[in-house]
Amino acid sequence: MTKFSSIFMLLMVLLFSACNTNSSDKKDPSDYLIRTDIPARPSGQKDVLGLVTEKLDTVRVGFIGLGMRGPGAVERFTHIPGTQVVALCDLHPERVEQTQTILDRAGLPRAAEYSGSEEAWKELVQRDDIDLVYIATDWKRHADMMIYAMEQGKHVACEVPAAMTLDEIWSIVNTAEKTQKHAMQLENCVYDYFELTTLNMAQQGLFGEVLHAEGAYIHDLSDFWGYYEGDWRLQYNKEFRGDVYATHGMGPAAQALDIHRGDKMNTLVAMDTKPVNIPEYLIEERGMDRDSAYNFANGQHTMTMIRTENGKTIQIQHDVASPRPYSRMYQVSGTKGFANKYPTQGYALQGEMLDETVAPDHENLNAHSFVSAEVRDALMTKYKHRIHQELEEKAKEVGGHGGMDFIMDYRLVYCLQNGLPLDMDVYDLAEWCSLAELSRISIENNSAAVEVPDFTRGNWNKIQGFRHAFAD
Ligand SMILES: NC(=O)c1ccc[n+]([C@@H]2O[C@H](COP(=O)([O-])OP(=O)(O)OC[C@H]3O[C@@H](n4cnc5c(N)ncnc54)[C@H](O)[C@@H]3O)[C@@H](O)[C@H]2O)c1
Repeated sequence: MTKFSSIFMLLMVLLFSACNTNSSDKKDPSDYLIRTDIPARPSGQKDVLGLVTEKLDTVRVGFIGLGMRGPGAVERFTHIPGTQVVALCDLHPERVEQTQTILDRAGLPRAAEYSGSEEAWKELVQRDDIDLVYIATDWKRHADMMIYAMEQGKHVACEVPAAMTLDEIWSIVNTAEKTQKHAMQLENCVYDYFELTTLNMAQQGLFGEVLHAEGAYIHDLSDFWGYYEGDWRLQYNKEFRGDVYATHGMGPAAQALDIHRGDKMNTLVAMDTKPVNIPEYLIEERGMDRDSAYNFANGQHTMTMIRTENGKTIQIQHDVASPRPYSRMYQVSGTKGFANKYPTQGYALQGEMLDETVAPDHENLNAHSFVSAEVRDALMTKYKHRIHQELEEKAKEVGGHGGMDFIMDYRLVYCLQNGLPLDMDVYDLAEWCSLAELSRISIENNSAAVEVPDFTRGNWNKIQGFRHAFAD
């Protein structure tokens, strides 16, 4: 081979390998995206965005599930004018009887009773004197109960998470669209004082353009595991990987970012740690052998990151096992300000964002530190949400997680009575619950990106900006 031809060969090899590198670098990003099926909207069916239904003077309610959570809801309804507790259902008759005493104490008539079998709730749902079915059972039957209630002509409200799989979610969405009934998930954390005040600040532009939000459910449940009916909660975590309880974090974050009201979630990636504390609990407290105990799917700490159509991000965490103080993280970060709830509530704002009435020490403010406690309190008073202005006192008196549970129930009833769109629609339910399955898919595929389905099927931009509805 001549010197010239060997130089030529070498150049060809270099060129070939360079071309190869380029072609693999230039893979289409969608090649890395895992997609799940989006069923076509059946013909003749329309979306339920902004759904309004006939006004109800009295909201007649049937409750299913009277364990740790359910009776508190019945108690709260005894404080809401224009409601009637018509029927109560639980597997255990003694829980129904115990809940009747709440009505006795309130001086209200006793409700019809259903119990004793897995299917008794269907008889409650079939009654023709109920407008709303209120579900507080374990996660396994939520979707079945919601779907059946809507098919029987009822509005339905269901505790969190209202659905655990994408199949369940699509069935709930399709049934709500087919029946044009309300299907609301009972996510209480969107009504908590700091979250709702912060949402009001965000909606009034105090943080500039909101770019990022965070939320979580970090709650050591080791003292609670033994109290769930039939051990359902621990068993669910044993069987399923992913963020199985995302809605407390998702709700306030999604509202701050106007999800399906001008923006939509496009992709997520998730990652988890190995499980340790719950398997060890199973060994130590329940005498389970090591192999069975560590045959445990749910990671001790699960993180999910989501990117939206408008270039925003959400981060959500789940940890029910580590010895950590309770936290829902809750942060909102914008171009001109920042809000943080845990461990201490605070706001940081660009100096010019504060007006003099709320900034006595204006000179000391900068975007790198929280405003003083006095300024924070003044801001929170100034931006107190109309819902809190009207309900705060009563909510604190009735209680339920500091009052947010009462506000949630009150708002549900208020909107039904006034024929208004509910604060949370079926697409909120779908989006917030979808993390359970979508995060699992990502984790099981090396944290690959997974598409978040558009549960509105093309109508995510129809409503501009999340707002609560009022009768006036
Ligand atoms: N939003 C919140 O802050 C919050 C707080 C606690 C619980 N929760 C949610 O509330 C729901 C209930 O949780 P919990 O702690 O009360 O659980 P739990 O196990 O104490 O109660 C569940 C109840 O449902 C009943 N039940 C189960 N299957 C039934 C059926 N087929 N028919 C009738 N009754 C049935 C059980 O007998 C039990 O009394 C869950 O979805 C949970 O995630 C929400």
